Amino acid sequence: MIVLGIETSCDDTSAALFDGNSLLSNIISTQLIHQRFGGVVPELASRSHIQLVFPVVREALDQAGILQNNIEGIAVTYGPGLVGSLLVGLSVAKGMALSMGIPFIGVNHLEGHLWANRLAYPDITPPFVALIASGGHTQLVFVEKWGLYRVLGRTRDDAAGEAFDKVAKLLNIGYPGGPPIEKLAQKGNPEYIHFPRAFLEENSLDFSFSGVKTAVLNHVKSIGPEETEKHLADIAASFQKAVIDVLVEKTITAARELGVYSICLSGGVAVNKALQENMKQKGSRENIKIYCPPPQLCTDNGGMIAAAGYYYLHNGVTSPLNLSPAPSLNF
Ligand code: KG4
Ligand code: ZN
Repeated sequence: MIVLGIETSCDDTSAALFDGNSLLSNIISTQLIHQRFGGVVPELASRSHIQLVFPVVREALDQAGILQNNIEGIAVTYGPGLVGSLLVGLSVAKGMALSMGIPFIGVNHLEGHLWANRLAYPDITPPFVALIASGGHTQLVFVEKWGLYRVLGRTRDDAAGEAFDKVAKLLNIGYPGGPPIEKLAQKGNPEYIHFPRAFLEENSLDFSFSGVKTAVLNHVKSIGPEETEKHLADIAASFQKAVIDVLVEKTITAARELGVYSICLSGGVAVNKALQENMKQKGSRENIKIYCPPPQLCTDNGGMIAAAGYYYLHNGVTSPLNLSPAPSLNF
């Protein structure tokens, strides 16, 4: 069975073809229009998806070298995400499925991030702990088996990637914030200033990143523009270290408490090499193996949606054609 996966939940228009074993193609078109606004503008995102979705599906078919009528099922993100953006992918998927007489399945975007690990590491089997850290989400999930998930903790305010984006904005170093902060941090001193780490209540696996963002803002205000410019790399490194410390500590604690020896990372923040290395270092002390998919599978992509959808379609699960977008969908 060949499944087409479509992802349009935020600012990436993506389509992929998956045959149950490997990805035949995974085309991702990132909307650059949002850069000048320093964040995703929902109306512009849905308009861009409308323009991009069919060319992206066409390119996915061409790259896989298959014809449209070889597709046997369609998987599409139906939430969480921006309602207008979700609507574009969902409408296209429904229209194609109806006209081609093939089943379609709505996929939870967060579950898609879990399946990104299966694509990168076909041998991986639950149980494992997954950290999903992106611009919209930061969650720790216990994957007991495929299809059976327990949320262990989630952010109470900003997502980790959102904190990177907001700090980059206040340092005026571009959007999205993760890549420029990671690059600057390589040249900076992570011990330059100790920004707060929000561990919250004892035993809590929830996150909070708005405090560290505010601490960076206050620091920058207190030292003024000249000192900020001089210590830009040190501020970036200290901020990044504060975020990573919390992500690593809570993720390793979750695995230890559950007695599992595999941790899977996913989401745009998981691209961060310092996060990956820190997690691997701390994990190895407790015999915990860390899985980090390549960047194109960590960030939003149609491949992960195709893989999740394949699993359900293969097991006979389909969605009704009146499935609506679910902007606040969770596990
Ligand atoms: O998964 P993603 O592409 O989209 C969603 O938000 O769902 O994640 C994008 C987020 C942005 O906030 C971006 O700043 C962050 O991931 N990001 C990074 C890095 N690359 C992207 N954060 C830290 N380090 C990076 N290298
Ligand atoms: Zn995502």
